[in-house]
Amino acid sequence: MRGILLAGGTGSRLWPVTKAISKQLVPVFDKPMIFYPLSTLISIGVREILIITTPEDREAFRRLLGDGTQWGLRLEYAVQLRPEGIAQAFLIGEEFLDGRNSALILGDNLFHGTDFGRWSRPGTEVVGGHIFAWPVPNPSAYGVVEFDATGRVLSIEEKPAQPRSRYAVPGLYFYDAEVVKIARGLQPSARGELEITAVNAHYLRERMLRATVLDRGSVWLDTGTVADMARAGEYVRVVEERQGCKIGCVEEAAWRAGLIGDAQLRELARPLLNSGYGEYLLRLLD
Ligand code: G1P
Repeated sequence: MRGILLAGGTGSRLWPVTKAISKQLVPVFDKPMIFYPLSTLISIGVREILIITTPEDREAFRRLLGDGTQWGLRLEYAVQLRPEGIAQAFLIGEEFLDGRNSALILGDNLFHGTDFGRWSRPGTEVVGGHIFAWPVPNPSAYGVVEFDATGRVLSIEEKPAQPRSRYAVPGLYFYDAEVVKIARGLQPSARGELEITAVNAHYLRERMLRATVLDRGSVWLDTGTVADMARAGEYVRVVEERQGCKIGCVEEAAWRAGLIGDAQLRELARPLLNSGYGEYLLRLLD
């Protein structure tokens, strides 16, 4: 399975903060936002990842993440010229995916929970689409999924005024290779975007969409508004300080996944000692 991490967009809901810097490079407490979805993909078991950015921000992401070899990954970069929707990621990433199944994660979504990666990864080969659901107080701000008592998906709608359920669809999606063809057949929505919800609706019509409610111990935070950002930062700070474990630490995720060894982790820690981040990495080796 190959991964796509979508980090485009204008971030206009966070202006002026994101006028000169990509939203996904803004810190959430002690690390850039993109570290969180990147470490989620690593813990799910994805090793080859396409990072999609705006043209202006691509070099900044490359400076931060490089080609991924330092973490045992293969990172590639592509640009989305205009914010024309999440599903466009599959058109941009068609060649990169090369007919394989995919995991798509949004660069501003933060997942956390014990063994989240192991728990959320599809157990077998993905057939169709696999999404998640999580109850929220403001479903109208998200894709909303409705399902029956047996877990069968009944409907999925993008930001409905009258939501049919309390369950939002978080920004982590698994698809089979058909997704590229489905994305190619989409028309832009009223807001001018190729909607990921339209992709999911297509799979639903084919009876090929599965939705799983996130494990009770899981946390999903999005960072759409300044208040969301502050809340996410505060969450990370409190958990990290009280638990002594970092969330979204790419180096740790790579080391725990066996992609890098002790010597490489020590090497990665060295330039990060001034901030305390490197000390944390060294502590993992004790
Ligand atoms: C997007 C998707 C929506 C999903 C959300 C998760 O919303 O369109 O279905 O629930 O991400 O963060 P947007 O970021 O475009 O508001």
